[in-house]
Amino acid sequence: MDAQLDQHGRLRHLLTTEGLDGRLIAEILDTAETFLPVTDQAVKKVPLLRGRTVVNLFFEASTRTRTTFELAAKRLSADVLNLQVSTSSTSKGETLLDTLETLQAMQVDMFVVRHQASGAAHFFARHAAPGVAVLNAGDGRHAHPTQALLDVFTIRRHRPDFSALRVAIVGDILHSRVARSEIHALHALGVPEIRVVGPRTLLPAAVDTLGVHVFHDLERGLDGVDVIIMLRLQRERMEGALLPGAEEYFLNYGLTERALRYARGDALIMHPGPINRGVEIDSGVAYHPRSVILQQITHGIAVRMAVMAMILGSHSRAPEGAHALP
Ligand code: NCD
Repeated sequence: MDAQLDQHGRLRHLLTTEGLDGRLIAEILDTAETFLPVTDQAVKKVPLLRGRTVVNLFFEASTRTRTTFELAAKRLSADVLNLQVSTSSTSKGETLLDTLETLQAMQVDMFVVRHQASGAAHFFARHAAPGVAVLNAGDGRHAHPTQALLDVFTIRRHRPDFSALRVAIVGDILHSRVARSEIHALHALGVPEIRVVGPRTLLPAAVDTLGVHVFHDLERGLDGVDVIIMLRLQRERMEGALLPGAEEYFLNYGLTERALRYARGDALIMHPGPINRGVEIDSGVAYHPRSVILQQITHGIAVRMAVMAMILGSHSRAPEGAHALP
C-alpha cells in the first residue's frame, strides 16, 4: 500500500511530494486558498480540529517551519504540544520508536516530525497507530513536502498558468530536501522547464534522473526564467572538503541585482529561509520588490492548515464522535 495515501487516493500522512499527482496537489492548494482569509481575521481561528492534538516533534533546528505548523494547528483550534528534542541525546531506532509509543499513549492525533535522518518520517508513519497521522517537516536531505507545497502555492498566486513556466532552483541542490520536493511538485503540476543551477560539487550525482536542466553558470541558468528559488548552503550536512568559501560562492552563485537582470523582468525571487545574506543572496535583493520570501512564510500557515484539515478534518479516520466536545 502507498505509504501516504489511503485506498481512495486520499492523504493519510504527508511524507513526500514524490508520487502525489497534480490533481491532489491542486486540491491542497485550493484548500489552502480557503484558509488564507482566516489569517486576516481579528479572530484567527476556525473550529475544524477542535479537540484534536497535534505534536510538533523537532529533532533539528527550525524557526519558520515549527512556528507556522504550530500556528496552523492553533488556527484550526487543535491542541498543540511542542517537544524540543536535543539532537545529541537522540539515538535513532529504538529511541524514536519509544518517543512515538510514549506520545501515542497520550492519544495524540498527529505528529509533525523534523529529523536529521532521511526516512525518519516514513519510520514514524510505519509505526503509527491506525488513527494517527504523520506530517514530514523535513527529513535529512530527503523531503520537505509542505515547503514545496507552499512554494508552488506562492508561485500559483502570482503565475496561475504553469504551462509555459521556467523555474530555476539555485545553489546547494545536493543537500536540499526542499529542492527535491519542489522538483516533484513542479513536475506534477506540469511545469515544462525546471532548471537546477549550481557548482558540480553541490549537485547530486543522479541529477540527470530528475528531469531537470542542469546549469553550472548562474547567468545562463537564470536566462529568461519566471521564478528564481535560491537555496542556502546546507553547511550542517556538508563534509569539510565540500565546503565552498562564502565569498567565492557569492561571486559565482550569489543573487545580486546584476545577476537578476538575466531573468525575466518580472521574475519572482523566492527562498525557503533562513537566508544567509552575502552568501547566496545579496541583502538588497532579499527584500527586492519582486521578492516573495515573506509571502512564502504567510502562505506556509494556510498550506499547513490545508494539509492538517484534509487529513484530520473531513477525512477523519477516528470513530464517529470520538473526539467531539459535549
Ligand atoms: C529549509 C529546511 O530546513 O530544509 N528551511 C525551511 O524549512 N524553511 C531550508 C534550509 O534550512 O536552508
